Amino acid sequence: MSNLLTERVISVHHWNNSLFSFRTTRSPALRFENGQFVMIGLDVEGKPLTRAYSIASPNHEEHLEFFSIKVADGPLTSRLQHLREGDPIVVSKKPTGTLVLHDLNPGKNLYLLATGTGLAPFLSVIQDPETYARFEKVILVHGVRFVSELAYTDFITRVLPQNEYFGDAVRAQLIYYPTVTREPFHNTGRITHVMETGRLFDDIGLPALDPAHDRVMICGSQAMNKDCCDLLDARGFTMSPRIGVAGDYVIERAFVEK
Ligand code: A2P
Repeated sequence: MSNLLTERVISVHHWNNSLFSFRTTRSPALRFENGQFVMIGLDVEGKPLTRAYSIASPNHEEHLEFFSIKVADGPLTSRLQHLREGDPIVVSKKPTGTLVLHDLNPGKNLYLLATGTGLAPFLSVIQDPETYARFEKVILVHGVRFVSELAYTDFITRVLPQNEYFGDAVRAQLIYYPTVTREPFHNTGRITHVMETGRLFDDIGLPALDPAHDRVMICGSQAMNKDCCDLLDARGFTMSPRIGVAGDYVIERAFVEK
């Protein structure tokens, strides 16, 4: 029996030349935890061509949402970027992943550190009421090269605070901190840099990182992940060693697939 379901594209949104998002139907059989990923893809000449994609929508929504780069010569994204409403897309039945709330020790502040499309799993996490029940403050830090890559800013700052079920929690607890490295912006510098210099904490009015009260989820490139791990390890944080075992932080490589 196939482990793939066939869904249909509901809508597509292009952010710029290199980034787009799309929504699909969701089989009621697909259950997942916010922050997890699935394999998705297309049928190419009779064979499924799939890649891992974090689910950007929360598990209480009826649809699925994905956030992707476009790579001109990428086997999958060169095709995916041409998706249109009604097109079929295959989705695996077995979501998995490390960026889940239950693998974090209890804490006060939850830092979600993303670069590029590493934002995707955190879009799901910030729409989970459980996130706001477990943490006092939720700080979403998104690092990108250019301002045009700050996808979902409007959703995070204008739409989410109006959510009829958890808008109050978003307004009181969610802090959004976008930072841009290759052109002027009100916040600049790599995520690691703004943490090391303390600028992030000054700007948001919270104390410097401390495993006594902070928990962290990380999703970026291999280099970004490593530098963030080193920074946290040096401050005494312990990583969740595997799915099902809690730590002070969890990490997953953003799926910069082609
Ligand atoms: P920079 O412009 O200084 O390279 P990319 O598209 O290469 O994944 O980068 C996305 C964002 O992540 C950029 O702002 C980039 O900064 C930043 N970045 C790249 N490598 C690291 C790293 N090792 N630690 C923290 N941020 C990084």
